[in-house]
Amino acid sequence: MRQPLVTGNWKMNGSKQSIADLLDGLKQGVGEVNSAELAVCPPAIYIPQVADSLANTPIKWGGQNLSVENQGAFTGEISGDMLTDFNARYVIVGHSERRSLYGETDTLVADKVAKALACGLTPILCVGELLSEREAEQTESVVNRQLDAVVAKIGIDTMAQVVVAYEPVWAIGTGKTATPEQAQDVHAFIRQRIAVQNVQVADGLRILYGGSMKADNAADLMAQPDIDGGLIGGASLKAVEFLAICKAAG
Ligand code: 13P
Repeated sequence: MRQPLVTGNWKMNGSKQSIADLLDGLKQGVGEVNSAELAVCPPAIYIPQVADSLANTPIKWGGQNLSVENQGAFTGEISGDMLTDFNARYVIVGHSERRSLYGETDTLVADKVAKALACGLTPILCVGELLSEREAEQTESVVNRQLDAVVAKIGIDTMAQVVVAYEPVWAIGTGKTATPEQAQDVHAFIRQRIAVQNVQVADGLRILYGGSMKADNAADLMAQPDIDGGLIGGASLKAVEFLAICKAAG
């Protein structure tokens, strides 16, 4: 059985006060969530606040990005070891905003996944196609290419330590969610691609959906057999909304 995981990607949002309020709301409500695991990924500067607030709670947290380097003269970067120094569990790797706005290539993303694992973090590897790629019927080839780069780097067995998030780029922040069927098709495709190399790893792989998931569409998405949770942007900034999504996950 795969335990559902619902992760909030706060992106570049929040303040000390709004984050304190959000964390209070999550801590108050987490007891009502059945089986899903909850995690939040704050902007790096708020990590100490989040780490302190969530210590001794069931809510995990992660980084939004990490460097491929260990330490040194890399201005503005944050290493995996720095994240684990604050007891991070997860780190998002290869989010489409990192790929498109900051030029992260499949190779760099694969290197970051390997680095996250080496630091003891669980990478949440994001994959997904642009609208133009979907329209050109390239969804599977794009997702396959993004996935293959990582499998080639870390090996199929190590994929057991990775969480995959399918985030169609056209659904991110647009209010245009993939239909449950569209999402399920790609999730099943991802699992199948892994299964041809290692059935056990494929069966255990948690594949999250991301892209305009909200309280009112979460249940239908989560009901799909290959959707094991969500990576939530906008709707993760409100405790009530995020908790409702977590409850829909299980
Ligand atoms: P939205 O939920 O705001 O569409 O963002 C999804 C996302 O990018 C999560 O990583």
